Amino acid sequence: LWTAVDEYAFSHSHPTSRPNTKALQHAAEASKEAGLPNIAASSSQAKFLAITIRALGVTHALEIGTLGASTAIWLASENPQLHVTSIEYDPGNAEVARKNVEFAGLSDRVEIIVGAGIDVIRELKQEVLDGKRPRFGFFFIDADKENNWNYFDVAADIATKRGLIVVDNVVRQGRVADASNTDARIIGSRQVIENAGKDARVDSVVLQTVGDKGHDGWLWAVVN
Ligand code: DHB
Ligand code: MG
Repeated sequence: LWTAVDEYAFSHSHPTSRPNTKALQHAAEASKEAGLPNIAASSSQAKFLAITIRALGVTHALEIGTLGASTAIWLASENPQLHVTSIEYDPGNAEVARKNVEFAGLSDRVEIIVGAGIDVIRELKQEVLDGKRPRFGFFFIDADKENNWNYFDVAADIATKRGLIVVDNVVRQGRVADASNTDARIIGSRQVIENAGKDARVDSVVLQTVGDKGHDGWLWAVVN
């Protein structure tokens, strides 16, 4: 039923005549063909993030976990003023992502950096602090879940005032609330939820989501 509602609502709120439809379909097909896992943000989730960015007037976004660049293409194609920097650990994924971005005609506004997220984000932090890069108004943390808090901690330091930080997959079918669960990804969820909740730099909330990716949820935080 969750998938049926997503399909019904998306087909009407984003008709196939929209300019980015071909690019998004191409990215999905090329990613599948290359054997990338089917874990990208859903169309409705990605469009929701893209609309939020537009409402906030964000000009620079940082994504950790490019995968096939579907979400990056969503964000950039729905926001002509937006520059997206996206970090990908797997060089093969990054190759697929770059081709998808090129097909979408967005190579000038979507920058893909290959490397371990935590190393790259620390380098980006230095560049921001040195004035070589602008601060980011939006973050989408969607990579190795064990590092959720480490990513978040750096993000809060290089965000614009009232910047928005979103962490994907913090609920995992409710497993986050099962204290006996010791999966490293669940521990990564709890760590970012609990640390963000007591961090004076931000105000945060967890929102559960359902849809064609099942039951999961986001941590959202606004930087003070
Ligand atoms: C997984 C990772 C994701 O980023 C996601 O959105 C869904 C699932 C996973 O590793 O299982
Ligand atoms: Mg995810």
